Amino acid sequence: MTSYDVLAEVYEWLISDAKSTPPEFAAAFADVTRLLPANARVLDCSCGTGHLAVGLAGLGMQVVATDASAAMVRRTAELSEEFGASVRTVRADWEELPDHFDDATFDMVFCVGNSLHHAVGARGRRAALESMSRLLRRGGRVVLTSRNWELVRARGSRLDIGDRLVRRNGRDAVVVYRWEIAPQWEDEHRIEIAVAQVDASEQVLVRSELLSCWPCRHDDLDVELRRAGLRTESSTFDPEAENYTVVASRI
Ligand SMILES: C[S@@+](CC[C@H](N)C(=O)[O-])C[C@H]1O[C@@H](n2cnc3c(N)ncnc32)[C@H](O)[C@@H]1O
Repeated sequence: MTSYDVLAEVYEWLISDAKSTPPEFAAAFADVTRLLPANARVLDCSCGTGHLAVGLAGLGMQVVATDASAAMVRRTAELSEEFGASVRTVRADWEELPDHFDDATFDMVFCVGNSLHHAVGARGRRAALESMSRLLRRGGRVVLTSRNWELVRARGSRLDIGDRLVRRNGRDAVVVYRWEIAPQWEDEHRIEIAVAQVDASEQVLVRSELLSCWPCRHDDLDVELRRAGLRTESSTFDPEAENYTVVASRI
């Protein structure tokens, strides 16, 4: 079971430089947020440390942030307080979302940062997408980002050691990804992520977590979105690029 409760402590070292503040994180989605009505109701359903949620609240939106990890939800609440943002936080797995919110509550639902692959297999993905779809008003949009798993799988199991130090909060770290690629697409894959921080006295402090994931082909995601009542409006998928964004609207 994927928890993120350990990585939550060091997650900022995993966020790219370009998105390392809440305003920058929200600005990365300006293409879709400009489609929203004033005072839009927005859900970030895998909020992580809350950078996107707090950034969207800073733009005047009514933001709810949810995540399966209690530690991540706590970090989001702390970041909201630090920025004086009004973000409602709830700890909830995707499948639990309909227990917390009425159907058609939101104008936009974000599930970004390569989160959906943590849903357990095609069944879990389907349940997650159905939850997100239910919570959207008709014409509302879901925004998903994904790794290009076609590329990831082609490279096979391997170790990726960061080739530069990442500096956050005045401290440097090296980030290491260890990929366990299963023989079949539908099998459980695993990623072990380690953040090795170097402190002022040159001690190395390592935080790591082994995460399970179930990859999905770009074309299959399109079919699964349709089954959940969502029509793909745009996709940035490029066979050569590492990540892509899909925007789909509630039919
Ligand atoms: C790679 S992080 C991305 C966090 C954030 N969206 C970002 O872009 O920085 C994946 C997030 O998905 C959350 N997550 C994993 N499985 C989940 C589930 N079943 N329901 C809700 N959130 C989940 C994790 O706790 C984690 O915060």
